[in-house]
Amino acid sequence: MRRNIVVGNWKMNNTIAESIELATAIAEKVGAAKPDCEVGIAPTFPALHEVGKALEWSGVKLAAQNCHYENDGAFTGEVSTRMLAAAGCSYVILGHSERRQLFGETNEVVNRKVKKALAEGLRVILCVGETLDERERGVTEEIVTAQVAEGLADVSDITELVIAYEPVWAIGTGKTASKEQAQEVHASIRGTIERLYDEQAAKHLRIQYGGSVKPGNAAELFGMPDIDGGLIGGASLKVDDFMAIVEAAG
Ligand code: 13P
Repeated sequence: MRRNIVVGNWKMNNTIAESIELATAIAEKVGAAKPDCEVGIAPTFPALHEVGKALEWSGVKLAAQNCHYENDGAFTGEVSTRMLAAAGCSYVILGHSERRQLFGETNEVVNRKVKKALAEGLRVILCVGETLDERERGVTEEIVTAQVAEGLADVSDITELVIAYEPVWAIGTGKTASKEQAQEVHASIRGTIERLYDEQAAKHLRIQYGGSVKPGNAAELFGMPDIDGGLIGGASLKVDDFMAIVEAAG
């Protein structure tokens, strides 16, 4: 069976000191609660190394929010996968809708990053999701299928990959996809993976839901057959809310 995975995406929040404080509190609670699900947190780049040290004993995984697809060189402002691995990351979030919308990342750029991260031994959380306009035009499945297929072009092994379905209209808006709406897209993503790979790969792939997940809606979302945990934004910045969501996932 698939093990649920809950990851807190802290986005551009918290100084190093604030990050260590929050990560330490989460590590202590996860250490005590010993949930069945996998738990991770994704602080900002400057805080990664210190947060990694605060998490070390707890089993909570360290994730980065982005990476570049080259090892090093003249790429001002960028961070490579080997730097992330050396900082203690086990996961990197790629193709988040904020990266796509605000920083112009295309499926092709996301694909280069996915290939590089997997080659470096990092696990990847590949984010996909439609905008409100795309949903209203009835092209959700088409958009998400293209994001999955193009994001995974020339990727032969997806054992270390997680997909996060995050409808853009539900991110930070307080509007959550209903459990049925989310399940429909998750099932479609699993179908795409079966077509691109095989039945085993589809069965093993974990697909997180993200977009205004809160303690009050986590359990019903995670109870759907193709939803395997969550990628949590705002609620991951509060220890009690995040822990309630972790507990809902197992
Ligand atoms: P919110 O939970 O704040 O809606 O953010 C979701 C998200 O973008 C996680 O990556």
